[in-house]
Amino acid sequence: MSQPIRTYTRIQNQDQTQYPPERVSVNPARFEDEVGLYPITPLAGVKQACEAARQAFPSWRKVPAPLRGNLIYNLGQLVSANKTVLASWLTREVGKPYSEALGSVQEVIDTCQFFVSEGRRLYGQTVPSEMADKRLFTYRRPVGVCGIITAGNFPIAVPAWYVVPALLCGNTVVWKPSEDAPVLSYLFCQLVEKAGFPPGVFNMVLGDGATTGAALVSMVSAGLVDKIGFTGSTAVGQRIGRVAGENLQVPCLELGGKNPLVVTERANLELAVEGALWSAFGTAGQRCTSLGVLIVQERIYEEFIARLLERTAAMVIGDPTDPSITYGPLISKRFLDNLLAFQKNQIQAHHQVLTPTIGQITRENPWPNFVGDPAAGYFAHPVLVGGARREDVLYQEETFGPLVAAVSYGELEEALDWANGHGYGLSSAIYTQDPAEAFYFQENIQAGMVSINNTTSGAEAHMPFGGNGRSGNGSRQSGVWVLDQFTRWQGVNWDFSNQLQRAQIDTIYSPGDLDYRVPGW
Ligand code: SIN
Repeated sequence: MSQPIRTYTRIQNQDQTQYPPERVSVNPARFEDEVGLYPITPLAGVKQACEAARQAFPSWRKVPAPLRGNLIYNLGQLVSANKTVLASWLTREVGKPYSEALGSVQEVIDTCQFFVSEGRRLYGQTVPSEMADKRLFTYRRPVGVCGIITAGNFPIAVPAWYVVPALLCGNTVVWKPSEDAPVLSYLFCQLVEKAGFPPGVFNMVLGDGATTGAALVSMVSAGLVDKIGFTGSTAVGQRIGRVAGENLQVPCLELGGKNPLVVTERANLELAVEGALWSAFGTAGQRCTSLGVLIVQERIYEEFIARLLERTAAMVIGDPTDPSITYGPLISKRFLDNLLAFQKNQIQAHHQVLTPTIGQITRENPWPNFVGDPAAGYFAHPVLVGGARREDVLYQEETFGPLVAAVSYGELEEALDWANGHGYGLSSAIYTQDPAEAFYFQENIQAGMVSINNTTSGAEAHMPFGGNGRSGNGSRQSGVWVLDQFTRWQGVNWDFSNQLQRAQIDTIYSPGDLDYRVPGW
């Protein structure tokens, strides 16, 4: 046991000991490795954290944005200096392959780097007035206390997408990280503290979604939280949306996906096979952006699937510290159980399992190229299923694991019907060398993100990230777009004419020479 941890209610309040460690965080690739002990923050602790954040807000919002940016700079430098250590903990606690874990930590650094400069911009506008001696301005104002609830697949990268801009914009934060990554989250908190953020500006509470997460959401109605940022399932996002709506708030929701990848006859097939393989099975299919439905033109379907199966069979799976693997374990038992239940209930008689088998990788149900001991972790077989129909849950619902439905299409319009038909709209991809096909696809897909000749996954820190339909409420993270989540526009009009000037009424509208009147009116 390496890291017994305690709940923060306020940073720089030293890790408070009021909640005893209750649960063990376990390495999902090696059960005997207990990564850390962690407490569950009770409702009273969640309230205390929100109150601390509320108390800290008035002075934090007054810190000039460039100076808030300096603390983000410190955070980025701290994460960078400890990149390999953080990546090792990430691999150990959620089973992400080490090279991917490094990428995940890099995403935090990239996010900090982007927002450091944003502290020196955070631009408003000067706007022309319709009256003389009057000036109009717009300013971004912080929203208040932000409750951030995040998932275990990107346990610090996705939190950074929320936390970094929220703090930069002058908000204070209460963060509920994934219960699958409490130790890594705690380490991240230590770096935030070391970066120099004042007490109460950043707070962490621990526990699962149904208890601690729900407690944090209940703080919206209690008047202690002004904005919720949530990454997770569509069903929970809908519940949060209802609470936010009742309180006239707009949450930032990044929800599920059933991300389509279309391969046309004009694709570079080798590249498309590689792209489909990574989209489907990279991160064990546990990205919000992982491939859900593979949609292949019918004249190349057989050949494409054969090539994909060949590459799938050659994949190495297993120990996430081994550089040869494509994917490691599922994040936790909960994810494995959900996947197995989905396979059991949703792969039906009319489907064809195209890969050798389904289920958990075990000694009795082995994967040939396995590294490590399958009995020591939550490993799942890669599964490709043909014959999906529109009404199937297999097609309609997010899976979150290495399971993909494959279908064929005739015309590109039909491919788009498949790509949009389930109502999710997070990420998407098309492989084609024909610009006309690429343009047609990008104009008609309802997803928030489209890749052309690249995979469904792989966000960059300065591009808008987010979905439509069942994938979210149109909110976007990352880049300048997320600033609209963590600020509200204030319009200021400043009249120095020393007389009452009434907009529209006292404005001198010049009709010009043209007579626009309609005869007879
Ligand atoms: C995710 O948030 O699950 C995906 C991010 C990515 O595709 O890089």
